[in-house]
Amino acid sequence: MAAILFLVVLLLAPFLSHASDPDPLMDFCIAEPDSSPSFASFPCKPASNVTSEDFFFNGFMNEGDTSSSPYRSKVTPGNVLTFPGLNTLGISMNRVDLAINGMNPPHSHPRSSEVGVVISGKVLVGFVTTGNVYYSKVLIPGQMFVIPRGLVHFQKNVGETKALVFTAFNSQNPGVVILATTLFATKPPIPDDVLSQNFQVDSNVIHEIESKFG
Ligand code: GLV
Ligand code: MN
Repeated sequence: MAAILFLVVLLLAPFLSHASDPDPLMDFCIAEPDSSPSFASFPCKPASNVTSEDFFFNGFMNEGDTSSSPYRSKVTPGNVLTFPGLNTLGISMNRVDLAINGMNPPHSHPRSSEVGVVISGKVLVGFVTTGNVYYSKVLIPGQMFVIPRGLVHFQKNVGETKALVFTAFNSQNPGVVILATTLFATKPPIPDDVLSQNFQVDSNVIHEIESKFG
């Protein structure tokens, strides 16, 4: 009996240790446009229709428009939804533009760890563990950071110029949970009494916060 249990654990070990997207089964599988994902990846475009263009992405060439966000930041995703060539490969990147004093607000990625490198500017990067320990550092160009999978983190421009950061993920679609909108901008809204009880404040405080998110 013990031997069978040991064998089952041994067989399952590779699956249990997978902390990111599964390994690809083919060289590539360019996501078929307008298709729906099944088991989180998309059906492949027929290989005969694949061209060099499928392996390149121009979406990071231009500075993101930080002026239309109250946080004065813009995250441009290069994930499987914008760059179909990433389909099944388990990796993706973001371009993060931060205006002076701009911030990429506290958020987490349920399906991926994150690494990043500051290209320009001076950026405070922070994250919080499940034990509520806060780790942070101000980074300058060329310095890199890592955010363990699923932990809440942010980047804030603390320099005198705009800042640029590139981030990378061990998932083709890391997902993002932005704390503020997750609590205060859902459709339909989370009941007021849940939020006021949670934060131990009056419901007019909750209404005021909700009003900031339209
Ligand atoms: C930064 O935290 C990002 O998710 O790109
Ligand atoms: Mn992130």
